[in-house]
Amino acid sequence: MACCFVRGLSVESQIVEMEAVHWHGVQANAAWAAALEAGKVLYFPHLGFQVLPQEARLIDPGILSPNSRNISLDANGALHGASGDLATVQALGTMIGRFRAQSQELIAAPLPHYNGHLRLAPTSYRPMRVESRRQSWRADDRRLHVDAFPSRPNDGERILRVFANVNPAGVARVWRVGEPFETVARRFVPRFTRYSKWQAGALRALHVTKSLRSEYDHMMLQLHDAMKSDLDYQKSAGQATVPFAAGSAWVCFSDQTSHAVMSGQYMLEQTLFLAPQHLYDPQSSPLAILSRLAGRPLVARQPG
Ligand code: SIN
Ligand code: FE
Repeated sequence: MACCFVRGLSVESQIVEMEAVHWHGVQANAAWAAALEAGKVLYFPHLGFQVLPQEARLIDPGILSPNSRNISLDANGALHGASGDLATVQALGTMIGRFRAQSQELIAAPLPHYNGHLRLAPTSYRPMRVESRRQSWRADDRRLHVDAFPSRPNDGERILRVFANVNPAGVARVWRVGEPFETVARRFVPRFTRYSKWQAGALRALHVTKSLRSEYDHMMLQLHDAMKSDLDYQKSAGQATVPFAAGSAWVCFSDQTSHAVMSGQYMLEQTLFLAPQHLYDPQSSPLAILSRLAGRPLVARQPG
């Protein structure tokens, strides 16, 4: 594929280029569901999020409040992480809200089976330059990983994410995309520490987690940490380097797609949660794959 520098043939097909040029009106499309639920990244090179001329001043890291890395618009419409006067905050809310609406449109039309089941999470605007971030290995998204939440157990709920590169200077956002989920899981599952219900209860009592960490959540965190902490794996795993162009968008299930961000600045991101029983193929989910590998249910209530 012309867009990617591929190391390891198995990942070549992890990126699927899409023709769409509009956020609305995409036809119902079984190919979308099949690709997304197989953990691939749908890449829309010609689908730009339009920053209006009066919004150009918002494309600046100076609008972040001092201790924030991102600006986010929560599900109730409140904006967090911004500094500036009321007019600036309102303009940010308008721009990020428009991206939220367009992301929802992009997903709704081609994937009608998900309609009514997607749960809105905050929309984020990330104006920081990726290369300038200094972080612990566990928080370092420049290492290949699958997304997992340490404090918010989700019992297998899917994390569907829509991204748009709004860089005004034409700078790509460069990702690495790794191997299919099952390949990654088969490699690391044998190294996992055992799940302890007692420990999960203690973490909840200490408010480290907001609810009881299930065995599924335990395994996903183990996978996230095992991938990020293994520097040899980071180098040798099958992977493709993918520059997502300025003025493009991309979509993936980030709890399933092995990914890392290497460089870039100015991105919008929308997260939508989806219970795994509402997938076109629930057997493709990380919950189903990890349950098969473990040979037992990993959450107290199995999705019906
Ligand atoms: C991530 O989800 O790992 C970060 C993606 C990005 O910032 O491009
Ligand atoms: Fe991530």
